Amino acid sequence: MASVALEKVTKVFDGSVVAVNDVSIDVKDGEFMVIVGPSGCGKTTILRLIAGLEEPQKGRIKIAGNVVNDVSPRDRDVAMVFQNYALYPHMTVFQNMAFALRLRNVPKDRITQAVEDAAKALGIERMLNRKPKALSGGQRQRVALGRAIVRNPKVFLFDEPLSNLDPNLRITTRAELKALHQRLETTCIYVTHDQAEAMTLGRRICVIDRGIVRQIAAPMEVYDRPANRFVAGFLGTPAMNFLAGRIELTQGHAYFVGDDASILLPDRMIDKLTPHNTEPVTLGIRPENLSLRQNATGGDNVLVAKVRLVEPRGDRTEIVTETPAAAQLTINADPHTKLAPADTVRIYLDTAKAHLFPRTNGEKNITLQ
Ligand SMILES: Nc1ncnc2c1ncn2[C@@H]1O[C@H](COP(=O)(O)OP(=O)(O)OP(=O)(O)O)[C@@H](O)[C@H]1O
Ligand SMILES: [Mg+2]
Repeated sequence: MASVALEKVTKVFDGSVVAVNDVSIDVKDGEFMVIVGPSGCGKTTILRLIAGLEEPQKGRIKIAGNVVNDVSPRDRDVAMVFQNYALYPHMTVFQNMAFALRLRNVPKDRITQAVEDAAKALGIERMLNRKPKALSGGQRQRVALGRAIVRNPKVFLFDEPLSNLDPNLRITTRAELKALHQRLETTCIYVTHDQAEAMTLGRRICVIDRGIVRQIAAPMEVYDRPANRFVAGFLGTPAMNFLAGRIELTQGHAYFVGDDASILLPDRMIDKLTPHNTEPVTLGIRPENLSLRQNATGGDNVLVAKVRLVEPRGDRTEIVTETPAAAQLTINADPHTKLAPADTVRIYLDTAKAHLFPRTNGEKNITLQ
């Protein structure tokens, strides 16, 4: 087990593609860190830098406190599991899993023990004599995980290891991975663009946008207190709603003045908002902080909107609405709602849970305490 640290690491491809931009991440010994972000934001490159498969132009990479920039990949003692795991087709599951240990001349009985233990943990112990082609996709994925586990590395690097699995298998394998980590307590760095995976697996989540770290914090912290608009919009389904407007402080109150209405903000925000008086901002509010108030007479933080889409999800129904000024607001409604497209609704905004982002300087959240 070991800590992993990136210190101001920059990786540029072909002289101009800045894949990783001055990134610092500190992963504690035994921690499960999830790196999340949209396609192309630099997640795989970060893992490859840690594994030693890429060299940074700037910055230091440390494993267990030692700088490893000049240490070869094989001597870093990290195991990487890729999205497109390649098993050796002519070898059995056992041989696939044993391969790395055989290369290291580990005694036979110890290899057998390690493979059997890992296979049991992953529920593939009855498949050890099969060849990969006689396995389902999910089983092959487990073999790839098992192959990493038997190496007993200091650090696991996972690059979207569940993305080839169907949704149900993804969820069960995710739970198994979590249990496995709780048992082994090996440091894990796990890359995904699936935010549900990030929320459920990570002890902390690192949100990346175009090669830049936007926030590193515990899952609920990232969800409840997003540091900036990018993080706010990236985590959460349906996504946070955004309205354009400006801040106005008058008569001892703070208002968000949008194209559709003036919205009274909580008094506790006044101090934070004062330096931003009259500035253009984006107001962010999650669907669960909006509710239907069909009998409201207006004025009390209620917006009128037209239903555009009704999307039943089973446990809830998502209603996508549009305000007269063409802002989109999504609400979680009762699953048995009778609402239909073109209906008019009145939506109450619980501004205690609203966030405000100025449109400059990285759109930092100015409502955080
Ligand atoms: N070997 C390479 N040569 C040139 N550019 C590269 C190379 N590898 C990655 N890039 C570029 O660096 C950026 C980051 O790529 P990376 O693969 O790290 O993204 P990612 O976050 O893993 O994306 P995805 O979610 O699609 O896997 C992209 O713009 C990509 O095109
Ligand atoms: Mg990738």
